[in-house]
Amino acid sequence: MEQATQKVLYSAVQPSGNLTIGNYVGAIRNWVKLQHEFTCFYAIADLHAITVRQIPAELRRHTLELAALYIACGIDPEKCTLYVQSHVSAHAELAWILNTITYVGEMERMTQFKDKAAKHAENVNMGLMAYPVLMAADILLYQAHVVPVGIDQRQHLEITRDIATRFNNRYGETFRIPEAYIVKEGAKIGSLQDPVHKMSKSDENPNASVYMADDRDTIIRKFKRAVTDSDNRIVASEDKPGVTNLLNIYASFKGCTVAEAEKEFEGKGYGDFKLAVGETVADALAPIQAEQKRLLADKAYLSEILARGAQNAAYAARKTLSKVQRKIGLYRGE
Ligand code: TYM
Repeated sequence: MEQATQKVLYSAVQPSGNLTIGNYVGAIRNWVKLQHEFTCFYAIADLHAITVRQIPAELRRHTLELAALYIACGIDPEKCTLYVQSHVSAHAELAWILNTITYVGEMERMTQFKDKAAKHAENVNMGLMAYPVLMAADILLYQAHVVPVGIDQRQHLEITRDIATRFNNRYGETFRIPEAYIVKEGAKIGSLQDPVHKMSKSDENPNASVYMADDRDTIIRKFKRAVTDSDNRIVASEDKPGVTNLLNIYASFKGCTVAEAEKEFEGKGYGDFKLAVGETVADALAPIQAEQKRLLADKAYLSEILARGAQNAAYAARKTLSKVQRKIGLYRGE
């Protein structure tokens, strides 16, 4: 499966709710394209998900659904290592070690920490604060060259690079310094109700996000209700975040540029435009949904894929972890 000559790619999604088209366009869809070029590790980041409170039965269900979704979106489990983060204990072990070279002040400054701490004020736990350190551990364990993510993860990639560099400076060359891979189109899909903010799995307003599991009518209805503005011109510009977001979504799903999309809708009204966006997204999701459903009916197959993935990942991760343990002076026997 692994080809030593290929560069390593690492990415993950949290099974913290129903995935949105933001997760798809910003992350998973690019993974599919990149799987031929790189040796890929794709994780289901369940240890990250528990930094906010999860209902155990739902976390379990979301984990399996996400595995099926990865495959349904086109990730080939024979080509890539697809696994659940908590199945590989090296993640938690390296995260602990990296915690000791990461400063509280650095973590307090993270935008996502500040946002989540405000949103879950009753549960500002140590895990939430150390979230970026666990993410650094994920990436560094596999000596990843590239990490394809949406733009909201850029800061986490920067701190990963800082932590790796600090470790290398202190203990000698150990970690490869990874690069973020952020595609311009779709790097940030906005909320349909508040388009300057990102579309999120955990939005309380169900009309704000289009979920990968939404049926055709729901998708079309949500796009019909999407906020735009009153001037009725279908062009992308900073003062038209709603229309720009819809153009971006349309172009991403249609496989055209935003300029081409603008041209296509020249002279049309918002009603026609929103319907076309909804139909295009629904058409693209239908085969993925059908395939995910088919896969979820065969839990034994999915479990087998995940077990194999965990074994593969654990082997690669252990190599880095052993090196780290030795370098920092943990006694490993004579
Ligand atoms: P998560 O689960 O929040 O998001 C998964 C991926 O989807 C991208 N994304 C978006 N892209 C465009 N528009 C949006 N509205 C949108 N919403 C989400 C995210 O940028 C991300 O790429 N911390 C990570 C999970 C993780 C990880 C890692 C990623 C854990 N360990 C190691 C890379 C490498 C996260 O928050 O995922």
